[in-house]
Amino acid sequence: MPKITFMPMNQTVDVKEGETLLEAAENFNIPLQHACGGFCACTTCHVIVKEGEKNLSPAEEDEEERLDRATGVTLKSRLGCQAKVTGDVVVEIQHEGFGH
Ligand code: FES
Repeated sequence: MPKITFMPMNQTVDVKEGETLLEAAENFNIPLQHACGGFCACTTCHVIVKEGEKNLSPAEEDEEERLDRATGVTLKSRLGCQAKVTGDVVVEIQHEGFGH
């Protein structure tokens, strides 16, 4: 089973292959925001991949375009609702979902 470590809370969870980062976060009550409900229409699920970028599904055009508008975007940025996990990854949440 792939493992995802979410930063900054440093919580590691086991997930099913093919799940998105957002689905995994929701299953484990990890505060990853998703204002648009996971439809690649906001950027609140923005994460920065710290390790294991190869273990995520490649970004599609929609995701790239959306990320271009995110604040603090880096070459390792992904949208949590679009990136599917195929192996171990470490990601850092950019907008924690507390109070939203
Ligand atoms: S939840 Fe809105 S783009 Fe991912």
